[in-house]
Amino acid sequence: MAVIADRCPEIQVTVVDLNQARIDAWNDPDLSKLPVYEPGLDAVVGRCRGRNLHFTTAVDAAIAAADMVFLSVNTPTKTKGVGAGQASDLRWIEASARQVAACAQGHTIVVEKSTLPVRTAETVKAILNAAQGEVAGAGAPKTFSVLSNPEFLAEGTAIPDLEAPDRVLIGGEDAASIDALASVYGHWVPQERILRTNLWSSELSKLTANAFLAQRISSINSIAALCEATGADVNEVAHAIGADSRIGAKFLKAGPGFGGSCFQKDILNLVYLCGHYGLHDVAAYWQSVVELNIWQQQRIAQLVVQKLFGTVTGKRIAVLGFAFKADTNDTREAPAIRICQDLLEEGAQLAIYDPKVPESQITSDLGCHPLISPMGSPLSGDGVWHRVTTPTEAVAQADAVLILTEWASFAELNWQELAGQMRKPAWLFDARSIADLSAAQAAGLQVWRVGCG
Ligand code: UDX
Repeated sequence: MAVIADRCPEIQVTVVDLNQARIDAWNDPDLSKLPVYEPGLDAVVGRCRGRNLHFTTAVDAAIAAADMVFLSVNTPTKTKGVGAGQASDLRWIEASARQVAACAQGHTIVVEKSTLPVRTAETVKAILNAAQGEVAGAGAPKTFSVLSNPEFLAEGTAIPDLEAPDRVLIGGEDAASIDALASVYGHWVPQERILRTNLWSSELSKLTANAFLAQRISSINSIAALCEATGADVNEVAHAIGADSRIGAKFLKAGPGFGGSCFQKDILNLVYLCGHYGLHDVAAYWQSVVELNIWQQQRIAQLVVQKLFGTVTGKRIAVLGFAFKADTNDTREAPAIRICQDLLEEGAQLAIYDPKVPESQITSDLGCHPLISPMGSPLSGDGVWHRVTTPTEAVAQADAVLILTEWASFAELNWQELAGQMRKPAWLFDARSIADLSAAQAAGLQVWRVGCG
């Protein structure tokens, strides 16, 4: 919405939320305090806020004033009831649709921005249709048109992704509404990049795009394990296959598995949908992408234990990176969570460093509180962790360093200096292929790199 406001100065964009603290944070004069860390977002918000970008909790009034409403609420995987663990929880999308139905005036275009299961638009339409024709105050009768406009931005590169998207997808049935939304994007996106489809194709394209991207990561991670077993190098294999224009070079980076709010959730959604339509083999095919991803995380934790003489009890391990990818403070489904939990279960003492993830977030992700230093009794068998503020602090007296996020600063680490602080024999486990391995080896560390045999 901030980018739309930036590119369309004549359009008033109002972002509404029920959460006052969150809206206050979006209105904080100190742009470093915005609730989301995203490179470049502060500058865009700084340019537009107060001009044509507004943040408020006055939801009803904003809906009443709007020609177009974007539903951008979250749709997490259901934790209970029918479809638990797979289907999306649609309670917030339904609540928002009802609020729009109640408060809208005249004609309103309702745009699904949240990633939704296929045919959700039907629910939204049914709710809106029930209010169609009502007249609010002295206004015109209510009418609605529903569009699907899924978002393909990736975190960490959200602003450039929005400013130069590969494509914008608009699904719908009413040509005039599609044109209205296309004209918003048309301020900066070339017409040939604005794709028009029916509602269901648009909803399904978003799930499919994420499933295909995630599938590439599981595929390359499966080959990484084979490379380690055979003496091949997964980076060389990825480079060689990526040079084939039919395959392409992107999304072939082996690592600790994919994380983030979308991939797992959307695949599970696809699995649920396939099951619903009786396509059980198709469901199993996509389910295997998620299973391989979990296997990769477990494999890395086990490998660390095995290399450290079969036990990490009481050993100190420096974990570098906790976010699910670089340039974000987001930890949703981060591979670091499962890997750290497995190591804690084995009794390890983790010193966790991430430039952007706060201690409170790690506490909630790991489900246990940090131990305030000094670390616990080494051989008690209880895994403990604490957050440190520099990589140097993390490696002090550590038996191993484990890199789980590809923060650029980790490529610059001075291994000569760090290795001197560690207990020998010391290991570097690089699950992101980012560290300078020859420098680490020269400093006396034993090294393991994902996909390198
Ligand atoms: C993803 C999609 O890319 C985006 O189009 C969609 O709108 C939302 O979901 P995001 O989750 O923000 O975006 O990040 P992405 O860059 O796709 O990375 C997802 C995960 O895959 C990260 O954990 C990342 O580290 C991992 N990844 C990505 C790899 O392990 N290897 C790769 O080659 C690429």
